[in-house]
Amino acid sequence: MSKVEQPILVFGATGQQGGSVTKALLSSGWRVRALVRNLHSDKALALQSAGVELVKGDLNDPQTIREAMSGAYGVFSVQPSSGQGALYGVRDEDEVHYGIQIADIAVESGVQHLVYSSTDAIGDTPTGMGHFDSKARIEKHVRALPISSTIIRPAAFMEMLLMPGFGLDEGRFNFFMRPEQSMQLLALEDLGHIVATVFAQPERFGGTTLAVASDNVTGRDIEAVFSDMAGRQISYSRFHDDVLANNAFLAKLTELLDSGILAGTANLEQLRKINPQLRTFQRWLAESGRSAFIDALGTSGEWGYGHN
Ligand SMILES: NC(=O)c1ccc[n+]([C@@H]2O[C@H](COP(=O)([O-])OP(=O)(O)OC[C@H]3O[C@@H](n4cnc5c(N)ncnc54)[C@H](OP(=O)(O)O)[C@@H]3O)[C@@H](O)[C@H]2O)c1
Repeated sequence: MSKVEQPILVFGATGQQGGSVTKALLSSGWRVRALVRNLHSDKALALQSAGVELVKGDLNDPQTIREAMSGAYGVFSVQPSSGQGALYGVRDEDEVHYGIQIADIAVESGVQHLVYSSTDAIGDTPTGMGHFDSKARIEKHVRALPISSTIIRPAAFMEMLLMPGFGLDEGRFNFFMRPEQSMQLLALEDLGHIVATVFAQPERFGGTTLAVASDNVTGRDIEAVFSDMAGRQISYSRFHDDVLANNAFLAKLTELLDSGILAGTANLEQLRKINPQLRTFQRWLAESGRSAFIDALGTSGEWGYGHN
């Protein structure tokens, strides 16, 4: 059986990363299998209509993971994290357990290439941020296993900027960096294309760790691009001190940006060779981010993640 006839099992296919990876793998001609919790959710049915084979399963049920991995050529592994707050109710220990379990079952099942999605906000020493340090532990485990693997380290997603709570509905935008400070951001579509390239060239990417981003932007760049798209001024400033004083999660992320850990380490020139379509922030907003941006201009609410 050729590689392409064997499926790639994608975790989190109804979510952001897994969704982007699934789309890119399908366009590259791979068979895709997805482990989903609910076979009948709108997102699962949409995957099925696009040609994805669905397997019902849960990260808390290793037997379903074994079944889903049976006969798979490759595995894309991503886990929910405590950084997503109450969304999945996942603790750091759960994330580590899920990530290690998937990797171990991949070895057991004879999977030929494992791609583990970590984060670029990882330090050589613990960062003190639970959902970053959890990924360092999973990376270490994956690296020690007898399996061809690639670790990708995504930067913060551009899509995250359009979540409620950053001020767009009030004609401003507040984020981690100072106006002149820069940070790398990733368009999820680029993540999918890069992961599809990794699966297509395991001999090139096996054993490597790849930081992944699409663009490098300052607060001023965001201000200019948002203002241009909104047709009015969207002024940028870093989160106010009182916001940071009341939200330990945002305060810690801001501190990590200042120390360079959250600023991003991706080599954009090298990534452009892997994916010539790498999106600038401006292009992403004009294309895939456009309708979510228009919605965000009219949507109030609090930032939903990481209130602890
Ligand atoms: N936001 C960022 O900028 C950023 C940057 C780098 C890394 N990250 C990391 O990215 C990860 C999240 O990825 P994402 O944004 O793609 O997540 P997401 O969009 O929230 O999707 C999560 C996926 O996990 C599935 N899932 C949740 N619990 C499950 C369980 N018990 N069993 C099986 N599947 C389950 C969900 O399926 P259902 O449809 O069943 O709910 C969904 O498909 C986190 O580890 C985060 O730290 C985020």
